[in-house]
Amino acid sequence: MKLLMVCLGNICRSPLAEGIMKERIKEQGLDWEVDSAGTGAYHTGELPDPRSIAMARENGIDITDQRARKITAADLDEFDLILTMDHSNQRNVLALTRNEQQREKVKSILDFAEANKQDEVPDPYWDDNGFQLVFDLLDQATEGIIKKLA
Ligand code: 4NP
Repeated sequence: MKLLMVCLGNICRSPLAEGIMKERIKEQGLDWEVDSAGTGAYHTGELPDPRSIAMARENGIDITDQRARKITAADLDEFDLILTMDHSNQRNVLALTRNEQQREKVKSILDFAEANKQDEVPDPYWDDNGFQLVFDLLDQATEGIIKKLA
């Protein structure tokens, strides 16, 4: 299984999603691959946002090996599941798809967060306090993904 986590900048939300998912994969001994990308190129080549690095580190996860990149047309064939954080990400990814097989891979990550009623992972870029909620939502979602697909 190859999973691609997608947000706007690939510096706040999707790097956390990638880091948490990789940790769970390791714990479970699963032979899965995870990567992340942004629909925008503003931060290409940059490390994750320092607030995401800190939130991951508080939870024992190191995400400093990650560098931001923009999603490519090839990603839509390469990955089995493309998980978006919010409606805007989803629209932008769907706009890149060229066939039904690609469209079927694009899902909202919170569809997998069982107990949660929110349907978007809020963009925390302008809100220092938003990172805890992002972590908690992604923690639930990644647990749900493992439960459903492992
Ligand atoms: P992300 O957050 O999509 O979770 O990485 C953002 C990062 C940067 C910007 C917006 C959202 N930006 O406008 O530069």
